[in-house]
Amino acid sequence: MSANYEVRGNVAVITLDNPPVNGLGYETRKGITDGLARAEADAAVLAIVITGAGKAFSGGADIREFGSPKALAEPDLLSVIAQLEATAKPVVAAIHSVCMGGGLELALGCHYRVASPGTQVALPEVKIGLIPGAGGTQRLPRVLGVENALNMIVSGEPVKSELLAAAPGQKLFDKLIDGDLLAGAVRFAQEKADARPLPLVRNLKVEHPNADAYFQFARNTVGAMAKNFPAPLKCVDAVAASTKMKFDDGMKFERELFTALMFTPESKALRHAFMAERATTKIPDVPADTPVRAIKKVAMIGAGTMGGGIAMNFLNAGLPVVILEMKQEALDKGVGIIRKNYDAQVKKGKLKQDKLDQRMALLSTTLKYDDLKDADLVIEAVFEDIGVKEQVFKTLDEVMKPGAILASNTSTLDVNKIAAFTKRPQDVIGMHFFSPANVMKLLEVIRGEKTAKDVLATVMALGKTIKKTCVVSGVCDGFIGNRMIEQYSRQAGFLLEEGCTPQQVDKAIEKFGFAMGPFRMGDLAGNDVGWYIRKRRYQEKPNMRYSKTADLLCEMGRFGQKTGAGWYDYVPGKRDAIPSKVVTDMIEKHRADLGVTPRKISDDEIVHRLVYSLVNEGAKIVDEGIALRASDIDMVYLTGYGFPLHRGGPMCYADTVGLFNVVATMKRFAKNPLDDAEFWKPAPLLAKLAAEGKSFS
Ligand code: NAI
Repeated sequence: MSANYEVRGNVAVITLDNPPVNGLGYETRKGITDGLARAEADAAVLAIVITGAGKAFSGGADIREFGSPKALAEPDLLSVIAQLEATAKPVVAAIHSVCMGGGLELALGCHYRVASPGTQVALPEVKIGLIPGAGGTQRLPRVLGVENALNMIVSGEPVKSELLAAAPGQKLFDKLIDGDLLAGAVRFAQEKADARPLPLVRNLKVEHPNADAYFQFARNTVGAMAKNFPAPLKCVDAVAASTKMKFDDGMKFERELFTALMFTPESKALRHAFMAERATTKIPDVPADTPVRAIKKVAMIGAGTMGGGIAMNFLNAGLPVVILEMKQEALDKGVGIIRKNYDAQVKKGKLKQDKLDQRMALLSTTLKYDDLKDADLVIEAVFEDIGVKEQVFKTLDEVMKPGAILASNTSTLDVNKIAAFTKRPQDVIGMHFFSPANVMKLLEVIRGEKTAKDVLATVMALGKTIKKTCVVSGVCDGFIGNRMIEQYSRQAGFLLEEGCTPQQVDKAIEKFGFAMGPFRMGDLAGNDVGWYIRKRRYQEKPNMRYSKTADLLCEMGRFGQKTGAGWYDYVPGKRDAIPSKVVTDMIEKHRADLGVTPRKISDDEIVHRLVYSLVNEGAKIVDEGIALRASDIDMVYLTGYGFPLHRGGPMCYADTVGLFNVVATMKRFAKNPLDDAEFWKPAPLLAKLAAEGKSFS
């Protein structure tokens, strides 16, 4: 039973006990209703307190139950709340630490609520594409007023109990209790033992002097902000209903909205991302209790684009960082950029000046390897050249203390080869950050053949400290993200050859929800980066077909924003991408050279060719064990490549479309003589799942 029962004097205390946050799983719900029945039956009990053990009152639904029949088993949360309201003895919720989602709805079903200051209170359902489904949208406006309630429901953000308790006219909390909450709650319950009739939130009135105008305003604002997500507007509808409908009708309406949202692809995508994020930390052969090495000081090799950004992550987390470069000028430049980034944050009011000073004080620079020897972790971010990396790692092997972790930020090179430059390959790992490294959430953690388990566990834990989403990848060319993007870029090239303009491709995929299309992205990152990689890659794979348009572009010196011209034209000092006649002419000439008659290509075809190229390569990556699970690939794309969140990532999107349909479309693409039939051959895992009617998840 995940709820405990005891009697203190004449007060029954029901304590939710389902670590870590007292999620309202079946056993906990049953524990509450059994406790209520027992208290009702005991004549010596005059009042009841409900509280939570450990670190929370309750964090809401038990996510471990998601999708299982247990989640719906009676008593469901609505029945628990109905039983609370029907209890003839006063029930007091004693709220502390965390009171969220179903936990708050449960508390709102009690006759009274007392709370500790500092409690985080929230209805976060909107974050997984839902609205509160157990009365939250009907009861919260009754105790906090329409506007405060709607703000909380539509944002999903937690608010501290003392702030809520200070809201004028609030009825959420009957009392804030400093010190021993349970003792205070029991005393409060004793005071209310004879109070009759018992107050119920459902009987309170909800009023707003200007309801129609207010809700119109709310709909406009929320609609503009929520673009691809239906749930926020439904929050407005549900709260509006609380002002117009009788309580029970409002509850029915809330349930209808909740159930409909449950089946939307957007909510499925958000719930998938929520679970996928948690899954990334699970590595089957590296259990959660694997010991980790202490990381108290970090060294960086290279103060370029990546080195500076990576260093900021550790400074932000309060870890000292020493950066090594070949020349003083490079150090000065790198440190200057770090300072400029922090200054910009101060100007925007996002960082206090004293924090900036603290962070900069943690940073030191050097030209001598000797100064790195007390670091526990060193991250190399020098030029992407195996010869340069070899020299760096051989030196690191000589100078770093035993047990130090040696990491490379390489985006394409073989981490096993890099490890073999040292006599301690077990201490070598890839830490692949994304640019700008101080902003992007993704960190691909590259596990080499010989990487020790505790090194992997340490880097995963450290990734969490610096607030990254860490995804483990095996060693292969491009790892998870860039290996997939290669196929995506190849398709983008074929689309140009067959008749698209760069702007048409970008627009189509941006309409699908990508933050940026492949050509605008290329201009931002620098087209020369891909050019350099292609020279190596296609030398190794001479039979791999790809469009030469990107090479022709680079031969014209159009590397992107940094050279003032790329797939688009740019006006100096501005980032707006202007369609380019020079580029269109180049593409047309290339088509003519190939003897291709251009055709009109639909947005739908563009999107599916780009996205399914990711899906097919993703399936190979899972099959080969490079990624631990399909959902890890989704996290890579959601957090590192601007894949639209409301689609849940490429693999989740493919599941939503249905793998059978994905494969059927790929077979159609394979028949296009200008495309590459080999390209569209379904990966074995994809073909198998599609044939069996299964999905990646
Ligand atoms: P960058 O050219 O901006 O910076 C490299 C820095 O390393 C330069 O400041 C250079 O002076 C320094 N350097 C070169 N050889 C050195 C040596 N032997 N000792 C000390 N310092 C040395 O390059 P960027 O873009 O920062 O890339 C660095 C690494 O990060 C590469 O391996 C790259 O593939 C990888 N990477 C780059 C990403 C990007 O978007 N730029 C994204 C993810 C990884």
